[in-house]
Amino acid sequence: MREIKIAPSILASDFAKLGEEVRAIDQAGADYIHIDVMDGHFVPNLSFGPPIIKCIRQHTDKVFDVHLMIEPAQPYLEDYAAAGADLITVHAEADKHLDRSLQVIRGLGKKAGVSLNPSTPENVIEYVLDNVDLILVMSVNPGFGGQSFIPSALDKIRNIRAMIGDRDIELQVDGGVNMASAKDVIEAGASVLVAGSAVFNKPDYAQAINELRCAAN
Ligand code: DX5
Ligand code: ZN
Repeated sequence: MREIKIAPSILASDFAKLGEEVRAIDQAGADYIHIDVMDGHFVPNLSFGPPIIKCIRQHTDKVFDVHLMIEPAQPYLEDYAAAGADLITVHAEADKHLDRSLQVIRGLGKKAGVSLNPSTPENVIEYVLDNVDLILVMSVNPGFGGQSFIPSALDKIRNIRAMIGDRDIELQVDGGVNMASAKDVIEAGASVLVAGSAVFNKPDYAQAINELRCAAN
């Protein structure tokens, strides 16, 4: 059984005490800190950008997993790297030159991820598989936390797991992941679960993270 990583999404945290929330999920056993960047253009919501990421960088040494829901992303990659991102994920739909963006991210010394909206077929990443460290399957339409898991994501996860073969690529799933959906998501082949409301809406973050990690059993 592959090791499952949990990436709590701070989009669901209390922004008024962001530093404290980040320290709390660090201590609760989060593997990655999932950071949702939204531009009000690629997605119908706004969140935050590099200055806030730079501020919370001082609160944890955990991997900063930055999910860019912005179009275009390429002009800003350097800013996110400088703000403290360890892993930068761009959306295939938001980038005319995906291969170049992935090369830019790796050239900045960061891990490169590519994300697919629910309606985007997996074949768009066929020719960049050797240039990515992470593939993010969206299981909701990006923009908001707290939405319901879209079941067709499971077939896509299975197909991408087969495409990955023996490459060293993480397969991340984001949106509506909770105790009810986590087992299916892991069985389909995911290795990293993003969870916003399933962690931050619980009183005990450590228990919530642990339950998700053990969902496969
Ligand atoms: C949605 C974001 C997600 C979101 C997940 O656009 O990419 O990371 O925070 O939230 P939940 O886990 O509540 O669906
Ligand atoms: Zn996300």
